[in-house]
Amino acid sequence: MHFDAIGRVPGDPILGLMDLYAQDANPDKFDLGVGVYKDDQGLTPIPDSVKRAEQRLVDTQATKTYIGGHGDAVFGALISELVLGAGSALIAERRAGATQTPGGTGALRLSADFIAHSLPGRGVWLSNPTWPIHETIFAKAGLKVSHYPYVSSDNRLDVAAMLATLSNVPKGDVVLLHACCHNPTGFDLSRDDWRQVLRIVRERQLLPLIDFAYQGFGDGLEQDAWAVRLFAAELPEVLITSSCSKNFGLYRDRVGALIVCAADAEKLMDVRSQLANTARNLWSTPPDHGAAVVATILGDAELKQQWSDEVEAMRSRIAQLRAGLVEALAPHGLAERFAHIGTQRGMFSYTGLSAEQVRQLREKHSVYMVSSGRANVAGVDATRLTLLAQAIADVSG
Ligand code: LMR
Repeated sequence: MHFDAIGRVPGDPILGLMDLYAQDANPDKFDLGVGVYKDDQGLTPIPDSVKRAEQRLVDTQATKTYIGGHGDAVFGALISELVLGAGSALIAERRAGATQTPGGTGALRLSADFIAHSLPGRGVWLSNPTWPIHETIFAKAGLKVSHYPYVSSDNRLDVAAMLATLSNVPKGDVVLLHACCHNPTGFDLSRDDWRQVLRIVRERQLLPLIDFAYQGFGDGLEQDAWAVRLFAAELPEVLITSSCSKNFGLYRDRVGALIVCAADAEKLMDVRSQLANTARNLWSTPPDHGAAVVATILGDAELKQQWSDEVEAMRSRIAQLRAGLVEALAPHGLAERFAHIGTQRGMFSYTGLSAEQVRQLREKHSVYMVSSGRANVAGVDATRLTLLAQAIADVSG
């Protein structure tokens, strides 16, 4: 038979946890696996601003005919502004353009194909560790994937090691950087660290690909864009992958963009022609609904204000959960050992727990997290931090 030789591959390590969690009958279970924001009821809410924008679309949208290869031009302009800043010179000079993609993952996939076909011979450098899908997306596009160190064996951000490796990356290679809320660690670079990375990127003539999936979840919508805007202002060419999954709560509607910054308007058109061609062969034209919601919100001052307040509420709740968890660990004598949970940024914490401890947490306490020790702090509810701390203490022995 045709399919005889086909074997089975293991399920996705992150999405697979959703199934395991769903099957667990323990009412006290914790879902700290996949990176989705949850409220204190354990629900991933649809922001009110999104609901209002959706209602407006239901009332006014006149057609669902195809949108072009780059997606909705209004969405593209507004997302570029959100990422690059309202007064961005790149936008004014027509040096930056967005291609709408199915989520941030689609933007990464599009950049991987673009690099493979239009920049042959370039390797891609990822942080160690990184989001596991970064590894496979670039490898599946046929690119050589290498790593720069990011976290030391004692679970600290190791900027010196990162810079040392980047200084030896072959000229012209692509370096993937996390703009904020590093996935999986939650350790972010300081502004001074970013300036040093920029110096090396410039010296080695590297092409930065900045993954920006958590705008608003670190220090705020504007603050989180600082490094992206620095690189875009200082370098002639930058690729940025933006996601609206988390900050708009539009996960399943798949909204993202690949924003290209080029040396001039003509070159941007060349690159965009390649992207349209590649996108046509990947997904033809992008899904529209979520992007239309984002465009409706960002294009209306009142809705935009409501949305940015809602993002801020999610951000500050995550910060409170981080502080609360460290506090709950204190009676177990573990506040110092896990102090990093309080200072990391975004949804994720690289806890420092081993794969074995993660297994025990799951089997003994129904606490679900990625085997790397990554916990989605945004998945806990504040009333159960004591219970979670007890479970962590039990396996931390
Ligand atoms: C995560 O890392 O959990 C999120 O980015 C969701 C995903 O698609 O893996």
